[in-house]
Amino acid sequence: MDAPRRLRPDPAFREDVLAGLAAPIKAIPARWFYDRRGSELFEEITRLPEYYPTRTETALLERHCPEVAEMVGAGRAVVEFGSGSSAKTPILLRAVAPSAYVPIDISGDFLRESARLLGADFPALPVLPVEADFTRPIVLPAAVSAAPKLGFFPGSTIGNLVPRTGVDLLRAMKDTLGEGSYLLIGMDRIKDPAILVRAYDDAAGVTAAFNLNLLHRINRELDGDIPVEAFRHRAIWNDDKARIEMHLEALRAVRFGVDGRAFTMAAGETIHTENSHKYGDRDSRLLLRAAGWGVVAQWTDSDDQFAIVLAEAEAPRFAP
Ligand code: AVJ
Repeated sequence: MDAPRRLRPDPAFREDVLAGLAAPIKAIPARWFYDRRGSELFEEITRLPEYYPTRTETALLERHCPEVAEMVGAGRAVVEFGSGSSAKTPILLRAVAPSAYVPIDISGDFLRESARLLGADFPALPVLPVEADFTRPIVLPAAVSAAPKLGFFPGSTIGNLVPRTGVDLLRAMKDTLGEGSYLLIGMDRIKDPAILVRAYDDAAGVTAAFNLNLLHRINRELDGDIPVEAFRHRAIWNDDKARIEMHLEALRAVRFGVDGRAFTMAAGETIHTENSHKYGDRDSRLLLRAAGWGVVAQWTDSDDQFAIVLAEAEAPRFAP
């Protein structure tokens, strides 16, 4: 059931949706999944038996954060990119004895909530939330400008980006954190495609609902009349590009309107809604190196399902 249209839809959402639906190969950026309902559905995904990344990464952090602490030293300001409602943060904070915690998120609501929750667990820790789009370099609060930094980017969110924009993001993070900083980043591994496809097309249909919610969101916020029941969720492994792709496939020829514009889709045509890149051991190193980060350690679980990678900002130097 679609709620009444919001008075002021996000202009960036509107722009992305209209441009994405007008393109010859239809695509909408994955960041628009996360309205309230989408965020709830994602939380549900992280608890699915098929969705191994969250629990695997959490176990890796529990096991290896003491080593991270030893390598980076105490007193760093921990800067988390896209903090959302992260349950992983306390594991890192308990281990590394930080001087401050700076969560960065585009959603102010999430920020305030997570800052409040963390404040209760770490009463002595200065928490300095920054509401910003972390794909661009950010000016950190003055209180942490002199402190050495440890960036934290868990969840394999980097996998949503194609390598070109992924490198741009990692470089922007390096610019934000500055010289002498470290980055602890979660990266999902290449593995048996059957396991990957199941993780993105679960038996309970939660990921399908997550994907289809994007159409409901368009209908709600952009005055759309997309017949959602005429679409189905698809998750496919693109071996060439080493990524899971999520699509919304039209089951029949459809026509619909969004924000006063008309669109048509043929039966079988899809809207590409997400990429989730997976990385081999050298892929993760190369991606980080391309952005000026040198990998100092990489930890994986015994089934090599997921990796947490610690990288150090490299000083510019002459190279042959
Ligand atoms: C939040 C981007 C890491 O790619 O695994 C989960 C999002 N999409 N199931 C991922 C997602 C479908 C997730 N990330």
